[in-house]
Amino acid sequence: MDTSFTAFNKPKVELHVHLDASIRPETVLHFARKKNLRFPWYNNRESLLSSAVCSQAGNLTEFLSKFDFYMPAVVGDREAVKRIAYEFVETKAKEGVVYVEVRYNPHLFANSKVDPLQFGQKEGDLTPDEVVQLINQGLKQGEKDFHIKVRSILCCLRHLPGWSSEIVELCKRYQGDTVVAIDLAGDEGLKSETSLGHLQAYEEAVRSGIHRTVHAGEAGPASVVREAVDLLKAERIGHGYHCVEDPNLYQRLLHLGVHFEMCPWSSYITGACDPDFTKHPLIKLKQDGANYSINSDGPLPMGASLQTDYNIAKTYMGFTEDDFMRMNINAAHSSFLHEEEKRQLLHTLYKAYGMN
Ligand code: NI
Repeated sequence: MDTSFTAFNKPKVELHVHLDASIRPETVLHFARKKNLRFPWYNNRESLLSSAVCSQAGNLTEFLSKFDFYMPAVVGDREAVKRIAYEFVETKAKEGVVYVEVRYNPHLFANSKVDPLQFGQKEGDLTPDEVVQLINQGLKQGEKDFHIKVRSILCCLRHLPGWSSEIVELCKRYQGDTVVAIDLAGDEGLKSETSLGHLQAYEEAVRSGIHRTVHAGEAGPASVVREAVDLLKAERIGHGYHCVEDPNLYQRLLHLGVHFEMCPWSSYITGACDPDFTKHPLIKLKQDGANYSINSDGPLPMGASLQTDYNIAKTYMGFTEDDFMRMNINAAHSSFLHEEEKRQLLHTLYKAYGMN
């Protein structure tokens, strides 16, 4: 992908990016050495990237296997967890992002009170609760040092509904301490209906004033999007590409102004959409005046940055400077900030865009 130009060089809002897919290669290598992990892909930056970055577009299986290469270096390590969060904020500030909502599943970084333990970890003493605390510390230090605003979203995982009640409880406990919302991520093909564990967690989120987004209609059909909106009361949809295949549902969501978190390069890597970007559903959303944002999703395993997505939108989808500005204003409106903070963010954008 051509990254020799910058499609949009003004302040940006990003709403869909995974912390565990945004780790710097140098940081992975540092903690692999600390843990004395001797796999060949930890030899140097090049060997790590050749193993941890998808080589073949359109292959979801390959994409999902990538986390196994780099996550073992950082999971269960307090210093690593906090540093990843801090460095994430620095990276976003350098990309010109002024507000970002970053998401992750705390259990994936933990090695205590997690069943089943992930990434071949042995039982330790880092709990999901402490993971949230460490990430909050890293994010807040980053906010101070790099002068951007950051909030977080905790992810339930489709194949592990037993964790979801703990996720919503963590959302409640850390609501107001960076955490603003709950998400549901993972393979949509696993169940034809949303599991009870997820449904109950989302009901509790509604009761507790926790915002809600759901990965839906990415690889899965439009019916998963309908479930997300109608059953899980999702306010935003992660990806949602296949929603356009159900015209009634699509029209209803357009009318409701439901926000779509679009990730063009990600959809190419995972094979969620036609690899021809000129046929991407984002073009239809743009033509129809839908409410959407452009996001990077998983920069490390996808071998890209937010700029990649903006460049795709400009090169293949006809996005103009005006389109990018309007899109970022919609993203700010659809952010999970409190009204007053949202007003301030919008003010920042209007000023930078010369709209006040
Ligand atoms: Ni995602």
